[in-house]
Amino acid sequence: MAKIIASAMCSHVPAIGAAIDLGKTGEPYWTRVFSGFEKTKQIIADLKPDVAIVVFNDHATAFSMDFVPTFALGCADEFAPADEGWGPRPVPVVKGHSELAAHIAQSVIQDEFDLTVVNKMEVDHGCTVPLNLMFGSPSEWPCKVIPLMVNVVLFPPPSGNRCFNLGKAIRKAVESYPEDLRVLIMGTGGMSHQISGPRAGLINSEFDKKYLDSLAGDASHARSIKHVEFMREAGAEGIEMVMWLVARGAMDEKVTEKYRFYTVPASNTAVGHIILENAAA
Ligand code: DHB
Ligand code: FE
Repeated sequence: MAKIIASAMCSHVPAIGAAIDLGKTGEPYWTRVFSGFEKTKQIIADLKPDVAIVVFNDHATAFSMDFVPTFALGCADEFAPADEGWGPRPVPVVKGHSELAAHIAQSVIQDEFDLTVVNKMEVDHGCTVPLNLMFGSPSEWPCKVIPLMVNVVLFPPPSGNRCFNLGKAIRKAVESYPEDLRVLIMGTGGMSHQISGPRAGLINSEFDKKYLDSLAGDASHARSIKHVEFMREAGAEGIEMVMWLVARGAMDEKVTEKYRFYTVPASNTAVGHIILENAAA
């Protein structure tokens, strides 16, 4: 039987990817950010995942504003890094697990979560930057990846509670897959940030830390936050944090916090990160 072995949540700031690609990780601004992910790489390597489900958002890269699914599951065998305007990032092609992905689609759609099945998709910084933060910069990613795209770009995005419940359905799907697979579920994006308009640069560390505390607890506070509150307290792009709730929903009610990191800023964003395991594990 496949099982969810842990969840890992982290920001996906594109400038983090640029710092890696341009060899700037040793600069003081960036050592502050990257030092927080040194321990992460060891923890994730020790967990030995076979598959990572990466809950991420596309930034109008693979999906133009012509079609914006709320939830879209990557069922392909591979996902190439997208060209976001400076050429594709020089990172490995993301290899999918089409059998497990098809099984998850079958299970969660029967469970009344109407995912869009995606058989062709290029992945932007929303997916590739978190992979770097978890795995470093290897020549091939060390496990298969199932990208799950969530719309947080075009109003109306799904509620955090809906995301949490989708995570529960994904867990049920994973646990009914017959092969023994170790599955890591990653929630990406956030934390507080606003990248345009008069409030550009807004960061709310108090909000972010309370959110991290909630995820390390039973997540009821995080699940209750409405869009307007995310917008007001955490900036227009702070809504990306709902994706962390998909990963949290795939865990038990009681979790153990394996690791946490928080720093401000990276580009316009508060960088937050947490790794959770089921307390019973
Ligand atoms: C920034 C953060 C994001 O999450 C994003 O998608 C784009 C830019 C930023 O802080 O620059
Ligand atoms: Fe983003």
